This record gives sequence, C-alpha cells and structure tokens, in this order.
Amino acid sequence: MKVAKILVVDDEQAICWAFSQLFKNEGYEVLIAASAEDGLEIAERETPDIALIDVQLSGVSGLDAMPRFREIAPDMPILMITAHGTMETAIEAMRRGAYNYLTKPLHNEDVLQQVRNALKTTSLSREVKDLRAELDQASSLDSLIGKSPCMQEIYKKIGAVAGSDTSVIVTGESGTGKELVARAIHRYSNRAKGPFIAVNCASMPEPLLESELYGHVKGAFTGAHRDRIGKGEAAHDGTLFLDEIGEMPLSIQAKLLRFIEKKRFERVGSTETIEVNVRILTATNRELSKRIQKGLFREDLFFRLNVISIELPPLRRRKEDIPLLIARFLKLAAITGGQRVRHQEISQDAMRHMLRYDWPGNVRELRNTIEHAVLLARGVPIQPEHLPSHLINTSPELADTQESQLQIAIADMTAAALDNLRGGPGNIFREIMSNVENAVVRTAMDRLGGNQVKASRLLGISRNTLRKLISNDQPETGKADR
Ligand SMILES: Nc1ncnc2c1ncn2[C@@H]1O[C@H](COP(=O)(O)OP(=O)(O)OP(=O)(O)O)[C@@H](O)[C@H]1O
Ligand SMILES: [Mg+2]
Repeated sequence: MKVAKILVVDDEQAICWAFSQLFKNEGYEVLIAASAEDGLEIAERETPDIALIDVQLSGVSGLDAMPRFREIAPDMPILMITAHGTMETAIEAMRRGAYNYLTKPLHNEDVLQQVRNALKTTSLSREVKDLRAELDQASSLDSLIGKSPCMQEIYKKIGAVAGSDTSVIVTGESGTGKELVARAIHRYSNRAKGPFIAVNCASMPEPLLESELYGHVKGAFTGAHRDRIGKGEAAHDGTLFLDEIGEMPLSIQAKLLRFIEKKRFERVGSTETIEVNVRILTATNRELSKRIQKGLFREDLFFRLNVISIELPPLRRRKEDIPLLIARFLKLAAITGGQRVRHQEISQDAMRHMLRYDWPGNVRELRNTIEHAVLLARGVPIQPEHLPSHLINTSPELADTQESQLQIAIADMTAAALDNLRGGPGNIFREIMSNVENAVVRTAMDRLGGNQVKASRLLGISRNTLRKLISNDQPETGKADR
C-alpha cells in the first residue's frame, strides 16, 4: 500500500518536530509548513493525503486559510488544531469544512487515532468515487455491456438510427436489454435533453392504457376526478418508449396508428386535439407476425413501427460477454453493498458454471444471480454453492460448451462480415480462417518462446508453413493479396 503523506502546518517549530517524530515512527511521510501560505503551496504540489493545521498561525490564520485548502485539495481531510478548545473556533473550523479538530494539549494516541480515521474514511470515499468513475466510463453507451461481435453490431445500429426521428422496434427475448437499447437511442439522439418516457403496454387493461397514453379529462369515466395528461404529452420533445407493444389491445391500436402518423391525439373524454413532437420507440419479445396472423395485431401498425428493427441476441449466443457482465454487476454490488463486498470476486469454478449455463432469462437472470450470490458469499469469492442449483445441475459438459463457444464466435463473425458486404463480393472465408490460424500460431510461438522448430512439431505443420503463417500475421505484409 502507498505510504500516506501528512502535511503539518504550524508556526511552532517544536510542535512540527514532535509531529514529525510521531508520524514517521508510524511509517507516514511528513511534510512541514510554517505558514498557511507555505502549506497551500505544498498542498498543491504534493497532494498530501491529510493535513493538520493550527488555527493560530502568524500571518493568515489556519481558519482563514480553510477555504483555499478546500479549493486546492477538496478530497484532503483537514484536522484543525485549536488552542484551548474554545468552542467557537472548533465550530467555525467544522463549519468551514474541517474533518475534525484536536485540542491542545495533544495526546499522541488521540492524534494518531484521528489521523487513521480520517485516512480510512477518505480512502473509502475515494474508492467509491473511483468505482463510480469507472462505471460512468463503462456506461458510455447507456450502460450496455458487451464486446461480442453481435453487440458491436447493435452499437453500430444504435449509432446509425439515433440521429433520425424514425420509429425503431427493438426485439429480443426477455431480459436481453431491449429497454437499455431504447434508452441508448434516446441518449444519443437530438432529443437527449428531452424526456424519455416508458409505457408498458402489457401492464394494464385497455381503458387504463388508453388514458395512460393520451390522458383524460375530468369526468371522462368513473374515477376521473380531474384532468390528467398522458405519457404521450409528457414525452413532448423527447422519446416515448412503448414496451411490450405486442400486448397492446387491438381495440386501441387504430388510435395508436394515427398518433404515430400524425403525432396527434385527443385526451380520453375530450374533443380537443393535442399535437406533440415525440419520437416513438417500441419493444417486444413476441413475434409480431404471429400476432398478425392470429388477428391480434394490425398489420398497418406493424409496418409503421417496423421501419427499422434492432434484434437483440440472447445471452447464450454471446457467452463471451458473460465475464464482462459479471464484472459490471459485481461493481454495482460494490457500490450499493458497502464495505464487505467492495472487492467481491468470483471463483473460477463458479465462473465455469456461469459460462456453461444457457441463461433463458438472459442478462436479467445473470444480474439477479450475481446479486443473490453476492449476498450469500458474504465477502468471500463466489463459489458454485452460492449459485442456484438449477444453474449447476443442468450444465452440459464443459468441452462441449467450449467447442460451441468457438462456433458461436465464428458464426457471429461470419454473420457480421456477411452483413458488412451487403451481398457484394468478398473474401470472408480466407479472412476468418487466417484469424483462426494467426491465433493458433501466435499462442504456440508465445508459449514456446518463439522456437519455430518446436512449434511446428507440436502444431503438426511444416516449418515452411509456420513461417508463412507468421509472416501473414505481420500487419504490414500479406495484406496485398487480400
Ligand atoms: N448489454 C447489457 N449490459 C448491461 N446490462 C444489461 C444488458 N442487457 C441487459 N442488461 C440488464 O439486464 C436487465 C434487463 O434489461 P432490460 O430491462 O433492458 O431487458 P428487456 O429486454 O427490456 O427485458 P423484458 O423483455 O423482460 O422487459 C436490466 O437490469 C439491464 O440493466
Ligand atoms: Mg423490458
């Protein structure tokens, strides 16, 4: 651990010396300043972890220098040293942002205790701050996590559609992150400063849903005691997200179609037309085409909504993202869970089970599983016994999964490459195979310390072939023929 730096600001040499001895004996680094001005300069230059400042200094008093110290080093706790414990200065010191105060005469043990406390508190709050910063950074695409090729495609699509006002329908199994995608589109759109309003179309019966969307006027139905605006109005200048659109009752689909086309509607019980400026995003985990066949969903509405669709892959199709997601959920647990889970880890065994499992509930299930396991693990690394039993019992053999993982990764790569080409001519087979070849060769060469003879023998290829593969792996060469 880093040695903590303590700044002592006191104009009495004897006191400075005594503090120096005391802190150095405890293994701290000590910086001495004889005046507030010196102290400020050192604080700026050396970023000490804590400062002890005498209230009474010749020149600018310690008390008067407080605001400047807070400004230069907002995270540095300050212990004020007050003369004879006058209440006023003590209160004033606290009011100006001191961490605590010490009264003369000073007792070594008290001083050390206070210093330890202050250092502990700030290192904790700093850790939480760091975690937060890391999280903020990680959540640059509105907290969507995933490096798999299929998630990269999703990010590209989000980027491509965000700027326009077209409707987008997000599809995918339950828990795959449809709402997160909708929020990301909003956040990256020109409407980001406006509201993002979500309505779950499956959560209420038809009449309520209608008034939820469009609002109502007083007396429109029993229980309508006053006028109420709907979510459609609330979303003005922003985005309206209609979740589980497949569940929307047929009877109100016609009104929705008009709303989407004209951006106009009437509150329930009113004839006054309201015009709004909203963008509509929708999501469903159902196959709408089946609902259309059954006559439960209007085809014209479907075409209107389905201008652009983003299909989220189930988690089992992008298992390589599982470790990243777990890391994220552990970090979230650290922020909300307090001291004990600050460095929550997961054992390799538990991780293996998580990678084998097929996650029918997708990312939501993974997140719940982690939250639950963190509670059970109580600070020790998460073990298989902290995972729900169905997750452990139904796992197929690891070898199978590793193989299928590889196949999934390659399938994704191929699909992405095919999409990119948009039907034009390409060289996908060779490109993907050379990726695989490079990975094999590089790993073998690394492991065998670059010994080509050994590597070619173990890989079962001739030295010539190996050499060729190595030269293909160089970024500058071998590109010309691709
Ligand atoms: N790619 C992702 N990165 C990080 N967290 C994710 C991701 N996908 C989903 N989640 C998390 O999983 C949970 C479910 O996500 P969300 O509500 O967006 O899913 P959904 O597809 O709308 O599910 P449902 O169909 O059940 O409504 C949320 O806690 C969300 O934060
Ligand atoms: Mg949802």
